[in-house]
Amino acid sequence: MKKCIPWLAGLLCGQVLAAPPQVVLNAAPSRLDRKLHGRFLHITDIHPDPYYAKGTSQSSQCHRKESGKDRQAGYYGTPFGICDSPWTLTNFTFEHLEEHWSSEIDFVIWTGDNARHDEDHEIPRPLDEILAVNRAIAKKMEDVFLRKGIPVVSSLGNNDVWPHASGFYLNNPFVFLTFTTTEYFISSIWDAFIPSASKTSFRKGAYYAIEVIPDALAAISLSTMYFYHDNKELTAVRGCPVGDASDPGNLQFDWLEEQLEMFRARQMQVWVTGHIPPSDYYYYPECYYRYTELSLRYQDVILGSLFGHLNADHFYFVEAADLNVNPEENRMPSHSFEGTIFEALMTDFEALAKRSKHLNYDDYAIVSVSPSLVPNPYLPSFRVFSYNISGLGSTTLGAVGEDEYLLMTKKDRASRWKHLPYRHGNDGNQCMDAGYRDSWRCKLRPWRSDNHAPSRQNTLWTPLGYAQYYIPRLEEYDKKDEPEFKLEYLTFPISNLCITDGPVPLRNLPKSLREAGVTKSELAPYGLHDLTIPSWLDLACKLGKPREKKLRKQFKKYMYMGGEDI
Ligand SMILES: *[C@@H]1O[C@H](CO)[C@@H](O)[C@H](O)[C@H]1NC(C)=O
Ligand SMILES: *[C@@H]1O[C@H](CO)[C@@H](O)[C@H](O)[C@H]1NC(C)=O
Repeated sequence: MKKCIPWLAGLLCGQVLAAPPQVVLNAAPSRLDRKLHGRFLHITDIHPDPYYAKGTSQSSQCHRKESGKDRQAGYYGTPFGICDSPWTLTNFTFEHLEEHWSSEIDFVIWTGDNARHDEDHEIPRPLDEILAVNRAIAKKMEDVFLRKGIPVVSSLGNNDVWPHASGFYLNNPFVFLTFTTTEYFISSIWDAFIPSASKTSFRKGAYYAIEVIPDALAAISLSTMYFYHDNKELTAVRGCPVGDASDPGNLQFDWLEEQLEMFRARQMQVWVTGHIPPSDYYYYPECYYRYTELSLRYQDVILGSLFGHLNADHFYFVEAADLNVNPEENRMPSHSFEGTIFEALMTDFEALAKRSKHLNYDDYAIVSVSPSLVPNPYLPSFRVFSYNISGLGSTTLGAVGEDEYLLMTKKDRASRWKHLPYRHGNDGNQCMDAGYRDSWRCKLRPWRSDNHAPSRQNTLWTPLGYAQYYIPRLEEYDKKDEPEFKLEYLTFPISNLCITDGPVPLRNLPKSLREAGVTKSELAPYGLHDLTIPSWLDLACKLGKPREKKLRKQFKKYMYMGGEDI
């Protein structure tokens, strides 16, 4: 590969040099005047702790000195520890994002958990602290992104409600409420993030949709507290049972289905986001079946789903087999972590690898779990995704809806859709059985799949990959020595990098990847040309081969940032 010469690479890659856009001087930048970059940020689990104090003990949550030989709390955080984030780390991160990323991205996905954990019995977590910390982070999101016209898609984490993990205090029209956290979030904390048309759905249960690129690309923020089975002692959360039309989980899925149907009718594409990732381990089973069914039935609309909560970097699939009612074909519940997440994934991927020649891509949807900013239990990190905007030229955000190329793509998609055959779900005898009759698994609608959809092949809006950044050696920095976010790894092949307007801005690539002749690097272990379902399945099948020792080792290293498997 040649050395990166940005302007030359741009020309060689056939980038059309557009005339500079007409800028009205001195006018406040309107969101719709912005040019598209084909990138967005995903950040999650920030967890700043107002009581964090440098030099204290981990056994006190980094709140007090305690006797013992505990490793002490660091100035910018305590890596691979059990403490939450100091404000120094939180503030540094926003400064870094402002300087290096705020002019490079189109929108922000922010998947919750902003208050500290509720683990110090000496310092309880009052509601006003939770709200104050949430307000402080929301303010930073506004200052760094929203003010520049960059939409921010927020979601509530289990630690952002009170008591933690509770859905009870969310305002729900079907539950008698004593306190309305939701109302507070909407009117005071997240007012600027939620489009006015979405305020009604937010009031119902803290979920909403937002068109991050008008008429083209939307994000849906789910309120996963209503699916989370740790809420089981709360009468308001009943676990999506069939026939319980007022269950808040069912109400949310009904709403989700309507949204997806509407976005499909408008030929738009959607990112699904939320805090707690969908799995048969964290969700009530019936909520999980509904999630899985919708992910498959709307595979042509959903580009992918982005979650946090687990803090460990990984991906997995929700799949048609999870909806199976034939006991012989029923696979092992996949995510019932009896070992570590890594071990559970490898078991899943090994099973996939054995069937790799017979995989039907219609049967899978991808879930991406991003690592956390809080260095508990690994290191601070965030991800920047890149997606396909080739063909849109230098269209500004406000004009994307009328772009000729987009309109043509929509038209093609709509006409193809009409001719696709239907598939049928479960209907056989098993569904007469009492154990299944009342399960969403026996309520599947017939569905169509489109193998030309952006989730299935690289085309307009397809996610192309991501770059993940982290702070290694966090413990070495202090007041006089500011930390540095470094590239941890990329999913892209190195050959895709050295281009202006490439997936990663050249200034945010390490020098080692900009040098002449680099073709291999530890920083680019996967060489994925895109993040379509077939590409993710390919990677999973590779990881599922026990002889791929080196790749597995790298995957595990990135998953835990070089730390221990917890
Ligand atoms: C972090 O930023 C907030 C304002 O955004 C400021 O009030 C606070 O003092 C800062 N804290 C630290 C430790 O820098
Ligand atoms: C985006 O998709 C188009 C097909 O629609 C393809 O030709 C192009 O190479 C893709 N761009 C990137 C950067 O992968």
